Formats: sequence, structure tokens, C-alpha cells
Amino acid sequence: MNQHTVTLVQDSWKQVATIAPQAAALFYQNLFAADPSLKPMFRGDMTEQGRKLMQMIGAAVGKLNDLDNLVPVLQGLAVRHDGYGVKESHYQTVGAALLKTLGQGLGDRFTSETRDAWATVYGVMSNVMITASRTTVAA
Ligand code: HEM
Repeated sequence: MNQHTVTLVQDSWKQVATIAPQAAALFYQNLFAADPSLKPMFRGDMTEQGRKLMQMIGAAVGKLNDLDNLVPVLQGLAVRHDGYGVKESHYQTVGAALLKTLGQGLGDRFTSETRDAWATVYGVMSNVMITASRTTVAA
């Protein structure tokens, strides 16, 4: 993850953040279309869930140059996700739904370079989470 990747992700996220509620709704639509079996895992209000998701992605994107502080946040998130019943394979489904949503939200601005940058960043984030889940025994 080099500086160019970080800049592409941070700049494109600023554009997505201006349509955060719509992007969140679109994301869950894409996710449940890709795998309807995930739907029952979400038990709360989906508008609120979308707000939390967008806030967390925004916080993570803002910390891409501050991995010392980002990694523990993602590790905590991963442990909570174990409790939601999330499995390793789900991270790939979520990543694909996220990239699809970004493409829909950004349109022409979602260049192949920006897409690759997001794939790299999501890969790093999901690897940290998956590793934390593998190495943490749920309390
Ligand atoms: C980088 C990846 C991800 C991020 C940033 C993320 C973010 C979040 C956030 C911020 C919450 C709110 C609760 C909390 O903070 O603990 C949440 C809840 C949740 N997430 Fe994720 N998540 C990710 C990956 C996944 C994956 C792969 C799944 C698998 C389907 C998933 C399913 C859920 C579920 C089921 C909940 C709880 C919903 C509820 O209580 O109704 N998430 N996620």
C-alpha cells in the first residue's frame, strides 16, 4: 500500500461520503443480492447499520497513514464480527459488494487505478480482521 494508493482511496472516499446514506443502502442491496443468506445476520435497523459502516470505513480510510492506530481498531472490530457469526469467506463477498458499490457511486471517477487502490486497501483491512479472528478466542 503506497502513498499513491492511499491518496486515491482517500480522495475517492470524500466523494462517496457526500452520498453516504445512499451508498450504504446500495451496499447492502449489492451484498444481499450476492448472498441472500447473509441477510438474517443483520438484526438491527439497517439505516443505523449503514451509518455505522460508513463511519467506520471513513475512520479507517482516514488512518491509512497511521496503521499503528488503525490496526487495533480493526482487531476490535474483527472480534465483534466473530460474535455476529461472520466467517472468513464472507470477507470476500463483502469486498466484492463494496467495490461494486464504489463503482456505482463514483461512476466515471472509478478508474481502474482507483479500483485497484480500493482492492488493495480492502485486502489489507480484511487481512488484519481475518488474522485477528483466527488468533483470538472469543470471550
Ligand atoms: C472491512 C470490513 C468490515 C467493516 C469495516 C465492517 C463494519 C461494521 C460496523 C462498523 C458494524 C457496527 C457494529 C460494530 O462496530 O461492531 C458492523 C456490524 C456488522 N457487520 Fe460488519 N464490517 C465489515 C465486514 C463484515 C463482513 C465480512 C460481514 C459478513 C457478512 C459483516 C457483517 C456484519 C454484521 C452481521 C453486523 C451486525 C449487524 C447487527 O447487529 O444487526 N461485516 N460492521
